[in-house]
Amino acid sequence: MRLTLQSAPFHEIAADWLVIPVWEKEPPPADWDVKLGGLLAKLAEQGDVAGKAKEMTPIYQPTGVAAKRVLVVGFGPRDKADFASLLSATAAAAKSLSSKPCPKIVMLVPVNVPSLATDVVLRACAAGWHQGSATAGIRKSSTERTPPDEVVFVGASADSALQAALTRADAEGRATNLARELVNLPPCDLYPETFAERAREVAVKTGLEIHVLDEQQLVVERMNALLAVARGSDRPPRLVLLQHRKGGDRPTLALVGKGVTFDSGGLSLKPTDGMVDMKCDMAGAAAVLASMQAIAELQIPVNAIGIMALVENMPSGKAMKLGDVIKARNGKTIEVLNTDAEGRLILADALAYAVDLKASHLIDLATLTGACMVALGYDVAGVMSNNEAWSQKVLAASLAAGEKAWPLPMFPHYREQIKSDIADMKNTGGSRYAGAITAAKLLEEFVGDTPWVHLDIAGPAWAERENATRESGGTGCFVRTLIEMALAY
Ligand code: BES
Ligand code: MN
Ligand code: ZN
Repeated sequence: MRLTLQSAPFHEIAADWLVIPVWEKEPPPADWDVKLGGLLAKLAEQGDVAGKAKEMTPIYQPTGVAAKRVLVVGFGPRDKADFASLLSATAAAAKSLSSKPCPKIVMLVPVNVPSLATDVVLRACAAGWHQGSATAGIRKSSTERTPPDEVVFVGASADSALQAALTRADAEGRATNLARELVNLPPCDLYPETFAERAREVAVKTGLEIHVLDEQQLVVERMNALLAVARGSDRPPRLVLLQHRKGGDRPTLALVGKGVTFDSGGLSLKPTDGMVDMKCDMAGAAAVLASMQAIAELQIPVNAIGIMALVENMPSGKAMKLGDVIKARNGKTIEVLNTDAEGRLILADALAYAVDLKASHLIDLATLTGACMVALGYDVAGVMSNNEAWSQKVLAASLAAGEKAWPLPMFPHYREQIKSDIADMKNTGGSRYAGAITAAKLLEEFVGDTPWVHLDIAGPAWAERENATRESGGTGCFVRTLIEMALAY
């Protein structure tokens, strides 16, 4: 899908569809409507076009425009418009139109959005096209969704800032869809070794440095917590390190992702209902790989490293047992009282590794706890941190990227819930209360004094059902936030 800008009059551009955004409780823009012979005003008067968010009114055989068809799309109230609302409205249009092949789209850019510069508006719309026209049906024998070959944006001056916005949107969109694809891939095909191979392909294509640590190297690196989780599976673990060193002697941002390619729960086996979607348990690692791809493609002048801890959590005669005590990379001991609390174990080693690599700031992403979904529901990530300033930066980036994140407290007393009788800590919270936070409290033991933010993406990583703006399955969440962080770093 090519995203382009054109300054030609919109009504003169031939296309399969012309997409026209309209605001709620506002007359359709007269300078556009004049080309359509006043049709928009008539439709508004009849009540067919009200501009409500995601409202769609197709017009077949329009007159006055070179496009074959027109889609009038409601963008909601202009004064409430933000990155997320622009993205959603465009994605709804994209999802609707891409159900049939329509190679060329022309879209009028919504102008005069208060508080958003035109390049941001353009980027939000472009993200919507990527989101709405991507399919989850990666293993269907015939495709049910066809992204357009080209989306031409018109109605905004074609200056260099807007061109740059499209370049960024293109990298962000492909990265987000890469993360979605990785999450959607079945666990028979995507396991630690094949995930690492995909990472290698990305690295070769984009010029990222890559190191893939296999079992032997993980032993040498003392990643015993990660190895303990992996031991139950016939699939060997991997730890992938990606490096983008384009920031000279400035500090290093480390992105760390949970990559459990399938979480059966281990000996603390999940029931079918809880296991059925557990191929999604590598969404954190997918977000790390995808954002590193975009950071490299956009040649963002920062030092960024991506660490992906890749394991499969399975029960077997070799699996870790309840009561086992493991000594993690930093020497701290963890008593395993539930093998289904595996994410914090692999992240313990991965975070300690990032600290040893001299990362200045850490962000980890993990589908870590069902408890975070109890607290915040679907769609919202929990934000836990040891550093107020750093977490404010991540929250600001998520807001700018149109992704929902909300802080959870990290009061010292929560640490008592993971006290163990025989080890430095245990891997469960003792009760089901504050489960997202007690998981984060364990992670905190492995980051030292380094500013760190933990994003629990158990809710937003996976969409149970499709909606008007996207298909079900992997969502590619927080890829845009990470890119935003790299740009702001
Ligand atoms: N991967 C799960 C968390 C999860 C649940 C992600 C639902 C996405 C949707 C994690 O490994 C897990 O099993 N957590 C346990 C922790 C508990 C045993 C302390 C949980 O949340 O139940
Ligand atoms: Mn688990
Ligand atoms: Zn898990």
